[in-house]
Amino acid sequence: MVLLAAAVCSKNGRALISRQFVEMTRSRIEGLLAAFPKLMNTGKQHTFVETESVRYVYQPLEKMYMVLITTKNSNILEDLETLRLFSRVIPEYCRVIDEADIQEHAFELIFAFDEVVALGYRESVNLAQIRTFTEMDSHEEKVFNAVRETQVQDAKMKMRQRAKEIKQKQRDTMRGGRMGGSAMGYGSSNASRMGEVITQSIAPEPTKPKSVPSRSSGKAMKLGAKSKDVDQFVDKLISEGENVRSTGSLKSKKMDIAKTSVPAALTESVHIRIEEKLNITAGRDGGLQQMIMQAMCWLRIADDQYGCIFIKVDNNDDKGCQFQTHPKVDKKAFLSSGIIGLKDPDKPFPLKQDVGILKWGLKTMDESLMPLAINCWPNDNGEGGCDVNIEYELQLEELELIDVCISIPVPSGVGAPNIADLDGDFKHDSRKNILEWTLPVIDASNNTGSMEFSIAGSPDDFFPINVSFHSTKKSFTDIQITGVEMAQGRSPVKYSSESALLVEKYEIV
Ligand SMILES: *[C@@H]1O[C@H](CO)[C@@H](O)[C@H](O)[C@H]1NC(C)=O
Ligand SMILES: *[C@@H]1O[C@H](CO)[C@@H](O)[C@H](O)[C@H]1NC(C)=O
Ligand SMILES: *[C@@H]1O[C@H](CO)[C@@H](O)[C@H](O)[C@H]1NC(C)=O
Ligand SMILES: *[C@@H]1O[C@H](CO)[C@@H](O)[C@H](O)[C@H]1NC(C)=O
Repeated sequence: MVLLAAAVCSKNGRALISRQFVEMTRSRIEGLLAAFPKLMNTGKQHTFVETESVRYVYQPLEKMYMVLITTKNSNILEDLETLRLFSRVIPEYCRVIDEADIQEHAFELIFAFDEVVALGYRESVNLAQIRTFTEMDSHEEKVFNAVRETQVQDAKMKMRQRAKEIKQKQRDTMRGGRMGGSAMGYGSSNASRMGEVITQSIAPEPTKPKSVPSRSSGKAMKLGAKSKDVDQFVDKLISEGENVRSTGSLKSKKMDIAKTSVPAALTESVHIRIEEKLNITAGRDGGLQQMIMQAMCWLRIADDQYGCIFIKVDNNDDKGCQFQTHPKVDKKAFLSSGIIGLKDPDKPFPLKQDVGILKWGLKTMDESLMPLAINCWPNDNGEGGCDVNIEYELQLEELELIDVCISIPVPSGVGAPNIADLDGDFKHDSRKNILEWTLPVIDASNNTGSMEFSIAGSPDDFFPINVSFHSTKKSFTDIQITGVEMAQGRSPVKYSSESALLVEKYEIV
C-alpha cells in the first residue's frame, strides 16, 4: 500500500480525524501530522511536501488541511486525484467545515474514507459511487457488519484501556478548568482495512449539569445502515459508561437550554429563581448607547403547608436599580428590612405556579456597568482589505460569563478570514458570512482577550456585532436570597434557589 494515511488536521498539525491504512501507532501518525505544517512552509509546491521517509499531499479546507501521507514512490498525479476525492467527501457530511463539525461526523467521514480506498485507490472512483456504496445494504455489507461486530467486541476492550490512558494523560497535561482532548479509537485485526480512528475533542469540559448526550440524528445520518451501526456502537459504549461525546450537537443543545431556561436544578418545595436579562446597544466607537437590565424574582411553592412564608433578601445593589414588589407584597417590609411577604400574612402565596414577587431594572448609559466591554477596530490596510483587531474586557469581575459568543459579520465571497492572533476559538460560517469568536468562560482570572484577523472589505462591513453569554454563578445585581421562614412562628423553611443572567440582545452597531 502506498497510501499510508488520510487525515484532516488543523493548521497547526493537530489530528482531527485520521485513517491509517497500514499498521501505525497513534503517536507516529500524530507526530507525522504535527511535523507537517512546519515542512509545508519550506516546500516550493503548494500541493505536496516530502521528508526523507514520507510524502504529504495536501489541500486546504477552510481552517484545516486534508492530508494524505504516502510513501515516496507513489505516483504523485494519482495521489492528487485521490486527494481531490477525499476533499470532496468532506462537504458531503459536514455543513460548516470546522473542527466541531468534522469531529461530529468523524465516523461517517472515516467510513467514506474507507470507501474511497476500498473502491480502489487506483481506480477512478467518483463521489456518486462512494455515496452508493456507503448507502447500499448489500450482502457484502451484511458480511462486513458481522465482521465489524466482532471487531467492535474486540475494540471495546482496547477502548476501555485507551480511555484510561487518555484520562490519565488529560489529568497530566490539561490541569485547570478548560481542557480539550477526549479521544477514542478502535483497533482491529485487519490493519490494512481498519486503521485507527482518532477524534480529538476541542469542546470545553461541560460546566453545567451532566447529561447523557443524545446522539444527533436526521440530516447528518446519510450513511444508512452503517451509520446505525456506529450509533449502536456508540450507544453501547455510552450504556457501558464510556465517555462518548458528540461535541457539536451537545454543545449547541446546551446553549439552547441555557438561553431559554435555567437548567433544572434540584428544587425544594419552595423554590426561588432570579432571572436577569440584558439588552445592550453599544456604539462601534466604544460608547454605550443604552443598557437595559430587567430582572424578576420568581417564587414557586409546591407544598401547601408552605403557603404562608417570608423570604429574606439581602440587597446590596449599588448600581442604582429600581425595585418593585408585587402589588400584594408588603413593600414597606421589603424596603425597610428586606423581607418579602404578603401584605396579609395569613393569606398564602398561590401554589404550584411561578409567581413574580419582585422585579427590578436598570436603564443606564454608564459604560462601566457593562459586564463585558468589546472593542472592535477595523483598519483599512490599503490593499482593499482590513486588519481587524477585536478585544474584550470583563468589567464586572465578580461575574463568570459562560459560552461567550461574539458574532462578527464578514464580507461575502472573499474567502475565509485570515486569523493572525486568537484567544479562544473561532468558526467561520461561510454561508451566513459570520465569524464567530467563542470563549467558553470569561472570569476574573482571565478577564481580557483579543482576536486579530484580516479579510477583504471595508471597516463598515464588520458591524453590527452580536454578543451572547450567560452566567449562573453570580448575578448582575448584588442581591441574594438569604432565607425563608414561616410567616407564623418564623421557623426556617428549606428552600432552593437559582439565578441566571442572560443576554437578550447585545449589539455593537
Ligand atoms: C485484510 O483485508 C484484505 C482485503 O480486505 C485482505 O486481503 C488481507 O489479507 C487482510 N489482512 C489480514 C491481516 O487479515
Ligand atoms: C432592547 O431595547 C431596545 C431599545 O429600548 C428595544 O427596542 C428592543 O425591543 C429591546 N430588545 C429586546 C429583545 O428586549
Ligand atoms: C445579529 O442579530 C440579529 C438579530 O437577531 C441578526 O439579524 C443578525 O444576523 C445577527 N448578526 C450577526 C453578525 O450575528
Ligand atoms: C483565557 O481564555 C482564553 C480564551 O478562552 C484562553 O485561550 C486562554 O488560554 C485563557 N488563559 C488562561 C490563563 O486561562
